[in-house]
Amino acid sequence: MRTRTRSRAAVAVKAKTTNTTSFASRLIAWQSEHGRHDLPWQNTADPYRIWLSEIMLQQTQVTAVVPYYERFLLAFPDLPALARAPLERVLELWSGLGYYSRARNLHCCAQSVMEKFGGAFPDNVETLRQLPGIGRSTAAAIAVFAFGVHAPILDGNVKRVLARHAGVDGFPGERKVEEQLWRIAEERLPNKQIEAYTQGLMDLGATICTRARPSCMLCALAADCVALTTGRVGALPTPRPKRAMPQRAVTMLLLLRHEAVLVERRPPMGIWGGLWSLPELPEDITVERYCATRFAAQVRADEPLAAIEHSFTHFHLRITPQPCTVVSWNTRAEEPGLLWLPLMEASTAALPAPIKKFLLGLRPAIRA
Ligand code: ADE
Repeated sequence: MRTRTRSRAAVAVKAKTTNTTSFASRLIAWQSEHGRHDLPWQNTADPYRIWLSEIMLQQTQVTAVVPYYERFLLAFPDLPALARAPLERVLELWSGLGYYSRARNLHCCAQSVMEKFGGAFPDNVETLRQLPGIGRSTAAAIAVFAFGVHAPILDGNVKRVLARHAGVDGFPGERKVEEQLWRIAEERLPNKQIEAYTQGLMDLGATICTRARPSCMLCALAADCVALTTGRVGALPTPRPKRAMPQRAVTMLLLLRHEAVLVERRPPMGIWGGLWSLPELPEDITVERYCATRFAAQVRADEPLAAIEHSFTHFHLRITPQPCTVVSWNTRAEEPGLLWLPLMEASTAALPAPIKKFLLGLRPAIRA
């Protein structure tokens, strides 16, 4: 009985090894011919550039990242430059890219690498993972591209490729499913050309094995793709179980004076942490009373403007902009967390994207 079990396991291992080799070699061959070779963060082994790109590419597409990446490198050409920059400047350059905790962690990570490692990024996954903003997959991507380490990655695109190819059921956000995908990612690692293999997984996920319209006809891995052969490409990976997205509604004050808008710095934690935004009106207080106590200002509330709708990962936010006519303003009430931002500067300020869009769209009549 034991012997039989063992020999069946041995057969399974052999079959897996054969598949593993061909999965990786087909992917590497596909990458060399059809993958991306000229992205701005490729053709370098500079850990700083690779780290910066990998943080920007978390949950964000290549086309959105490229201009930000280039602007960042102009402003902060190396790690010491980023580490000594004020957080405000980093947030300003990040503005519009979303998920702002990434920018705060980026800055914090730069300072950590300077302090703990004398400015040299660690060359192994375990130590990289201990740095702010670097999870297991990002640590592996940095280790692969900067140091040639053999480690699996598992970002959103790769989860999709592996879930389909191996026919893994279940939402990949669930711990058990994710652990299974990590095991598969680990098993399929090639012995050589780890950079081309890793880039191939990313590229195939981004260009062929896409979520909505995969091009299975062009896929180098189609022959043994379980999802394809069982007609489940559209069903895998299993989507997040549906739950109603909570709705939040807030009123934000629109105070304008001399072509400038009053903005307030958001608390460091929570949505849009550290960015400048329109002041939020607390519940259960009138606009006039709040402005009197918070800004020592006398204002008159005008007609509210059309709401701004914005979706975060876990809730929808409905913002009602409340324009106010400023009757009197006590300049002594100005404090570090408050700023009259000239509307001309709205496009470059560290504002959340929907607020920036709103301010840039204000009609000249309202701005006067
Ligand atoms: N997504 C995450 N990392 C990437 C990279 N290095 N190239 C392209 N897309 C990516």
